[in-house]
Amino acid sequence: MDPNSETHAALAALAWQIELGADEAISETPINRFELPAAEPRPAAAAPAAPRNAPDPAQPAPASASPAFVPAQPAAGPDPAEVAEAAARAAGTLEALAEAIAAFDLCELKRGARNTVVSDGNPKARLMIIGEAPGRDEDLQGRPFVGRAGQLLDRMLGAIGLSRNAPDAEHAAYITNVMFWRPPGNRDPSPEELSMLLPFTRRHIELAAPDVLILMGNTPCGALLGRRGILRLRGTWAEVMGRPVLPMTHPAYLLRNPAAKREAWADLLAVQAKLRELA
Ligand code: URA
Repeated sequence: MDPNSETHAALAALAWQIELGADEAISETPINRFELPAAEPRPAAAAPAAPRNAPDPAQPAPASASPAFVPAQPAAGPDPAEVAEAAARAAGTLEALAEAIAAFDLCELKRGARNTVVSDGNPKARLMIIGEAPGRDEDLQGRPFVGRAGQLLDRMLGAIGLSRNAPDAEHAAYITNVMFWRPPGNRDPSPEELSMLLPFTRRHIELAAPDVLILMGNTPCGALLGRRGILRLRGTWAEVMGRPVLPMTHPAYLLRNPAAKREAWADLLAVQAKLRELA
């Protein structure tokens, strides 16, 4: 192989790994895990001081207790969804809600993320768009829908005279996601992750109080409507918290399936008509 094509092959392999989400080196030097020595048996932990009223070790243990094996108890921590619910309820403004989300530490995804991604656009907008989760670009910039899919979303909004940057509510859009941290490798969020963060999204809708909502893709439909199957759901109005919502195919899907843009255009016109009807 000539050195040039070797370089190209190495760069292509690197780009492919980044595409899959392996975009961060976790160690300065590679580790050959096949060469690691087999784990030594762990020394027995020092026995803790016997508590008062502890049984006398000289006496035989009761039949039900096995001194050699004490099953690990699951850590009895707070229920993340309840913590999120309380934090969301306590937030009286969108700013306070964004702070509460950024302070929420019970979602594992936060550990691997560079930024908490809450919202973008004009919070006074009559239209609120709820997407899935931040991707690589959103994680880097801390704003939703800024990558290729986000650029297409901006063009779609522009086609019906809306923009996330418009200062007036009439022509503006407000954008968020049901997940506030990037899932590793852009995997689908788990049902636990979705239900623990849902109280924040419901409060977000209450505080932003849009006239109309768009749910972009399967994940927000699953979280807010309890239904998936975006190709069946799209284009049919539903209701969330008393507000009209339209499920639409995600712009990332439209980038991969340009033929579906025709239906997306029909959905955008339906959104425009609904905004006019409710004005
Ligand atoms: N896809 C989403 O659903 N949200 C983003 O913020 C980016 C891509």
